[in-house]
Amino acid sequence: MTITIVATKPIAGQKPGTSGLRKKTPVFMGPHYLENFVQAIFDVVGAEGKTFVLGGDGRYFNDRAAQVILRMTAANGAARVIVGQGAILSTPAASHLIRLNKTDGGIIMSASHNPGGPEEDFGVKFNMPNGGPAPEGVTEAMYQRTTMLTEYKMLVAQDVDLSVVGRSHLGGMVVDVVDPVADYATLMESLFNFSAIRAMFAGGFRMRMDSMCAVTGPYAVEILERRLGAEPGTCVNAVPLPDFGGMHPDPNPTWAKALMDEMFGPDAPDFGAASDGDGDRNMVVGRGIYVSPSDSLAVLAANAHLAPGYKAGLKGVARSMPTSAAADRVAAALGIASYETPTGWKFFGNLLDAGRATICGEESFGTGSDHVREKDGLWAILLWLNILAVRRESVAAILSQHWGKFGRNYYSRHDFEAIATDKADAMMAALRASLPGLKGRVVEGMTIAGADDFAYTDPVDGSISKAQGVRLMFEDGSRIVLRLSGTGTEGATLRLYLERYAAGPMGLDLDPQEALAGIIRAAHELAGIERFTGRTAPNVVT
Ligand code: G1P
Ligand code: ZN
Repeated sequence: MTITIVATKPIAGQKPGTSGLRKKTPVFMGPHYLENFVQAIFDVVGAEGKTFVLGGDGRYFNDRAAQVILRMTAANGAARVIVGQGAILSTPAASHLIRLNKTDGGIIMSASHNPGGPEEDFGVKFNMPNGGPAPEGVTEAMYQRTTMLTEYKMLVAQDVDLSVVGRSHLGGMVVDVVDPVADYATLMESLFNFSAIRAMFAGGFRMRMDSMCAVTGPYAVEILERRLGAEPGTCVNAVPLPDFGGMHPDPNPTWAKALMDEMFGPDAPDFGAASDGDGDRNMVVGRGIYVSPSDSLAVLAANAHLAPGYKAGLKGVARSMPTSAAADRVAAALGIASYETPTGWKFFGNLLDAGRATICGEESFGTGSDHVREKDGLWAILLWLNILAVRRESVAAILSQHWGKFGRNYYSRHDFEAIATDKADAMMAALRASLPGLKGRVVEGMTIAGADDFAYTDPVDGSISKAQGVRLMFEDGSRIVLRLSGTGTEGATLRLYLERYAAGPMGLDLDPQEALAGIIRAAHELAGIERFTGRTAPNVVT
């Protein structure tokens, strides 16, 4: 077998964001683009004699990128690659395979919830031997490496047949094509009370699972319909398509509108759920009631002990800073630790590895536990099903009891997408500059108790992450957070996070946008969103 050394030049902008390197597909398909980044990965982590996992969410270019990555992995001297059949693996399933097989890490091809297709998004990220996304120090080293790259290694070989499960060879490297679903489904069976959930379905419980033409389709059909006996047809949009059928595979009320309409319609099933492009995000909806991700995290934390995998209780609960504090209240009641980390799942890795946290979550429809090192959409959906099967109550009843006990953190996120980057940067710079003078100021009748730019010191390794988002905290416990997205591929996206706590027992059933109206006005006034960006209203509200 021949290995060619291909001369290349650094390509600007190969800097991984919140979750790997994401670009428009034509950019990734451009000359040397994918190759340079993959070589930078191997130059940093080393490939000689190692075993890696490879898979992706099946989006456009996934299949061809996989062949390039396989040839480069072989050329860089790796011993073995475990690849999902058809180059498909959901992100949580990839994380599980990395851990299960004690490999040296894995490469995941995905741009998560971003649309896919020839003109849409593509992405590549590296996960560590613990199954979790590479930490900032590692991704920064990869980026630095891309700025000085002069060559990459490529094996001269034909494509590997990834359509059938089994072993083959590529140069000196073993390629094991595995069923993407089997090991993951086994893991889920080990965590949840499948017989209780099966009995619930057998008793007439109805569910709608919307995989949004993305990667969880085969996982959902196998687990929900085949193993748990949900009615055939429970899973919709269950065939993964390279362009996600033109959908925006982001499970939120805006993009999963069909599911929302059904759940609020006359013949709504008992439970609805959706997941994103690569299967790590989830949205859950009850009949006629939406469950915000922050509330979902809190309810899962409060009830996790009802599932066999968590019956010994939780070690701690972690949430990203912009996520509502609802989970903190549960942790306090349980007498366990709670952690507040910067945005991005990678910050949970150390807490999970160190056994400090068992369940983690983000307001951005991400929930997961120490079973893998990624958030896990189907995991969250199955834990909800397990809780519903044991408690035999509706989602609405479970939520209202939860709020009655802990109070309610009214919460919403407003996204302002595709703002000109310079305008968004100017707004954030002005806001940051104003922080020292904000304490004590009264806006909309509320007094600012403190304002800062969130910085995080990792309690496990002491690493410090600064400038993670502006927090404006009010005396009544309300909170405004502003940050710019690190996953977008077009201009800037401003994320505005809004929170207000209501202790109850009165006032627990308001519409969140109404409950937050004063805070929303205060945020616009303090940040000057219209003045800087020209935007008066968000384009996505969750
Ligand atoms: C977004 C979410 C964040 C999540 C990430 C990857 O990042 O806000 O919580 O971890 O996607 O799914 P952002 O675009 O805000 O940087
Ligand atoms: Zn995702």
